[in-house]
This record gives sequence, structure tokens and C-alpha cells, in this order.
Amino acid sequence: MNVFEGERIILLPVFNVMILVYLGCLLLILYYLYTKNYSYWESKGVPFEKPFFLFGNFAKIIAGKQHISFRIREIYNKFNTPYVGIYIFNQPNLIVRSPEILKRILVKDFDKFVNRKIALNEDVDPISAHTLFSSQDQTWKNLRVKISPVFTSGKMKLMLPLMKECASNLVNYVEKHSGEVIEIRETTKKYAVDIISSCAFGINSDCFKEENSEILTVATRLLDFNSFVRSFSIFSFFFAPKFVDIFRLTFADKFASNYLINVFNTTMKERKKQKIVRHDLIDLLNNLKQNETFNDNYKFDDIKMASQAVSFFSAGNDTTSMTISFTLYELAINPEIQNRLRQEVRETFEKHGDFTYEAVNEMKYLDMVFNETLRKYPLTTFLNRKSATKYTFEETGFTLDEDVAITVPVGALHYDPKYFPDPEKFDPERFSDENKHKIVPYTFLPFGDGPRNCIGQRFGVLVSKVALAYCLKDFAFEKAAATSVPLQFEPRSLFMVNKKGLYLRAVKL
Ligand code: HEM
Ligand SMILES: *[C@@H]1O[C@H](CO)[C@@H](O)[C@H](O)[C@H]1NC(C)=O
Ligand SMILES: *[C@@H]1O[C@H](CO)[C@@H](O)[C@H](O)[C@H]1NC(C)=O
Ligand SMILES: *[C@@H]1O[C@H](CO)[C@@H](O)[C@H](O)[C@H]1NC(C)=O
Ligand SMILES: *[C@@H]1O[C@H](CO)[C@@H](O)[C@H](O)[C@H]1NC(C)=O
Repeated sequence: MNVFEGERIILLPVFNVMILVYLGCLLLILYYLYTKNYSYWESKGVPFEKPFFLFGNFAKIIAGKQHISFRIREIYNKFNTPYVGIYIFNQPNLIVRSPEILKRILVKDFDKFVNRKIALNEDVDPISAHTLFSSQDQTWKNLRVKISPVFTSGKMKLMLPLMKECASNLVNYVEKHSGEVIEIRETTKKYAVDIISSCAFGINSDCFKEENSEILTVATRLLDFNSFVRSFSIFSFFFAPKFVDIFRLTFADKFASNYLINVFNTTMKERKKQKIVRHDLIDLLNNLKQNETFNDNYKFDDIKMASQAVSFFSAGNDTTSMTISFTLYELAINPEIQNRLRQEVRETFEKHGDFTYEAVNEMKYLDMVFNETLRKYPLTTFLNRKSATKYTFEETGFTLDEDVAITVPVGALHYDPKYFPDPEKFDPERFSDENKHKIVPYTFLPFGDGPRNCIGQRFGVLVSKVALAYCLKDFAFEKAAATSVPLQFEPRSLFMVNKKGLYLRAVKL
């Protein structure tokens, strides 16, 4: 018998045990380093929600079991303090509950909270680095100043004819299916993609004509929450910036972005050649580029301009189409409200002979209904900022460290009975002339607030109101057997999106 064999028999288990011990120690050290952060809020004296192992307070969201908005609301409701500390993975994040403090962050001391806490990697993802939504500091400031003139009411007025054309297509589609149950989300999505293709890319997408419109397919890919890779990427941009670097993630789908850049590029060339003026976003961006002077701080190039158009696409499509869908849904289950609104729409149409810009803005009840929809279904259920420097809250004396993520719990504020009594009830009267002054400032934030609010607000509101006016004038929207009441939200989406389709019956009147 070989001596060594005997030794090996004894040594192997010992060796294995040693490996296990080493591995164990290593894991313990990693665990310690990872969870060291979990004492952060306690050490700052900030009330906090107890984190759970690796995932912090977002375990159920990461597992796809709970919508992020409901989780934030759950934590918001558990506390009564001006703010609550939470952990996303092991990163501290401050949920601000107090409207006064929100005012400081969003408006008064905006210069200390300019940026969103969102990953940025110009090498991997040059497009999102040059969009308003993701860009930072001086780049953002220069860009915002440049792009603001694109969204004035004068410019919206010029774009209205393009919107009305799309609204006619929408109405034709609904008319063809009169009496049937239709899936409203798909339908309004076609309308939104039509409008943005028309206004931001200068092309007819023909979503209502062709079953498989190419641009609709591409647009669906851009921010597709049904795709695991896309959901994971978007989630990482907001909450796990390290993954963005490690996996070289892009915010929007790369193939789709490149496709859209090419479309934009081609259109731009055509316009220059044929001297076409459409007063759409492309023309406006082009003017901005041509008007650039030598000493401008920020200069557009093809990629940077196309990035804007692509970002209008991703920021404007879901938000507007979902808001229109939710409005129609609430109108279907509240027929008295629908009838009252239809009366206003018809009277206004008769008075003006058309849905002019003035006519659309004159409809008061439409505005109330629309705001109540945004209150109940804020598409962006939270806003996101970060501190640029150390910052002391006067109200409490607490000093926030530099670069800490801040969450504005829009969805939770909109459902806080202190601000909106009986929050589950759809009640446009909250926004009537008698009642609207009772709304506490900074508790109704569907478009955010301050210098970094939604730049497309006017555009989004106009697009939605035009669709609603066109649809309600001649059609009744009714609950059908397939309509799910109440809605079930898809936990994996960053937006409030209902799980199954949103089915309603549309009947020509
Ligand atoms: C009903 C429709 C819409 C809703 C509810 C909505 C909501 C929002 C919200 C909540 C924000 C964040 C604001 C903040 O952090 O304070 C935002 C930002 C933004 N939205 Fe919208 N939006 C809508 C439509 C649009 C449209 C149609 C466009 C473009 C054509 C657009 C472009 C943008 C951009 C570019 C930003 C980033 C602004 C910046 O960081 O400077 N949005 N939107
Ligand atoms: C447009 O909205 C639909 C859902 O309504 C979504 O699937 C699609 O990804 C969106 N496209 C963009 C570009 O955001
Ligand atoms: C856009 O067109 C220009 C020429 O007009 C070209 O130099 C540029 O590479 C194009 N960009 C993309 C992304 O296709
Ligand atoms: C830029 O130039 C266009 C003509 O190319 C002009 O109509 C417009 O008023 C100028 N200014 C701005 C801010 O667009
Ligand atoms: C609806 O909300 C917007 C802000 O999102 C506000 O400007 C407008 O005055 C509101 N309308 C009513 C009737 O309260």
C-alpha cells in the first residue's frame, strides 16, 4: 500500500473543511461589507424601514410580486415623519413625505438637487447621456434652455393640425369597431405612436392601417417592460447603477434607438432638400441647430438631436396613451361623469365649429376629469432626485449627505386621505373652482414640479385632450364583461400599467 494514498484519504476531508471555512469567512466579510450600509439611517437618526437581507426594502419588487408604487405607498403609510429612510439593495434612499420639504427640494433649493439619481455612461449609451431626462448639471441646464422653446403654447398651436389628423384616424378606427369590445390600451397606443412619429420624426406611421406597422414594432421594443432584459436594465438605471457599468446596459433598446436615429436622420435630410415646413418637433430642433451661435455652451450634432426625438418617443408614448386609457376606463364605470363631459364637449364644439386650440383649453370639466385621472393614475408614480452637496433641512436640523438618492412618493401622496379624502373614489369635483384651492401645494405632482418638471406637459395634455374630445363627441364608452374592475396592476412595470388588457365597448351615438 502506498503511504501517500493513506495520507490523501485523511487530508482530503481536512482540505475540504478548510475550503469551506475560507469560503465561509469570505462570504461573511462580503456580507459584512454589503450590509454595513444597513446602519446608515439609524446612525443619522432618521426613521427607517427595516431592510431585509440582500434586497433592502425592495425584495418583493425585485421578485416581481409587488408594484413599486404600492411598496412605496406601504412604507409612506407606515410612518408619520417628514421623511423615511429606506434601502434599495444596500443603497440608502430617502422618501420625503412632507410637502414643505418637497417644495425645498423641487423648487426653492433646486440648485442643490438638480440631478436625478440615475446611472449615466456616455461610452455605452450616448443617447441617454444627451437626453433631458438623464443628463446632468451643466449639460442638462444648457439642453433644457435650448429645448424649452420647442414646447411653448404657440408651438403647440401650430402642431394641433397634426394631432387632429391622428385623432381622426383614431375615431375612424373606433367607428369601424362600434358595438364591439375593444382593447383600449392598444388603441390609444397606436394613436400616441402616430402622433409622436408624426411630430418628432415627421413620418406617417400608419398604425391604424397596417397591422404590423414597422415603427410600432420598433417603438414597442424601445422600452418593453415585458422583456426581462429591458426591465432589468431600466430598473438598474434607477436603482442599481453598478449593474449598468458591469453589464454595459443601455436605458432603451439599442436596435430600436439606432433605427429611430436613422429615421430621424433621413427625415432631416429630406426636409433640407425639399424645404418642407411642418412646424413639428423636427423643424423646431432643426431651427435650434441652425440658430446656434459661436459662443453657445451646448451644440447639437446629429446624434444629440436624434436623441431628443428618441427621448420624446419614450417619454411621451406610454404616458399619454395610458392616461387616455385610464380616463376612458373611469368614464365607462362612471357614466354620469361621462355624460356631463360629453355635454361640455358637444357644446364647445358647436360654439367653435371645430376643436381649435382655444376650444380644447376652454373645456373646464375636461380639465377636472383629466386631473382626477392623473391623481388616481400618476404614470410616473415617483420622482427621483439626488443631493449635490451636504444639505441641512431647516425644519428638522437633519443633514443629508452628498449624492444620496431622494424619492418623491407621488403615488402615495395622491392616495393620502389627509390630502385627498376617500382616495379610491374617482371624483373630478376635487378640481372644481370651489375645491381646488383646498389642495395642499406639492401633494399633486403628476408632472413633477420645479425647473426639472415634465417639459412635455403641454404637449401631453393637448394630445390627450384632443383624443378624448374626438372620442367622446360621438361615442359612448361602456363597461363590458371583459372589463376588470378594479384594475390589477402589472408589478413588473415601472409605470402603473394594468395586468391584462383594458377592455371597453365603444358605441357610436
Ligand atoms: C400625460 C403625459 C405625461 C406625464 C404624466 C408625464 C410625466 C412626467 C414626469 C412626472 C416627469 C418627471 C418630472 C420631475 O422629475 O419633476 C417627466 C419628465 C419629462 N417628460 Fe413627461 N410626462 C408626460 C408626457 C410627456 C411628453 C409627451 C413628453 C415629450 C414630448 C415628455 C417629456 C419629458 C421629458 C423630456 C422629461 C425630463 C425633463 C427634464 O429632466 O428636464 N413627457 N414627465
Ligand atoms: C409605447 O407604449 C407601449 C405600451 O403602451 C410600450 O409597449 C412601448 O414600449 C412604448 N414605446 C416607447 C417607445 O416607449
Ligand atoms: C446621420 O447623417 C449624417 C450625414 O448627414 C452622417 O454623418 C451620420 O453618421 C448619420 N448618423 C447616423 C446615426 O446615422
Ligand atoms: C431660429 O431660426 C428660425 C428660422 O430658421 C426662426 O424662425 C426662429 O424664430 C429662430 N429662433 C428660434 C428660437 O427658433
Ligand atoms: C390641473 O392640473 C394642472 C397641473 O398639472 C393645473 O395647472 C391645472 O390648473 C389643474 N386644473 C384644475 C381644474 O385644477
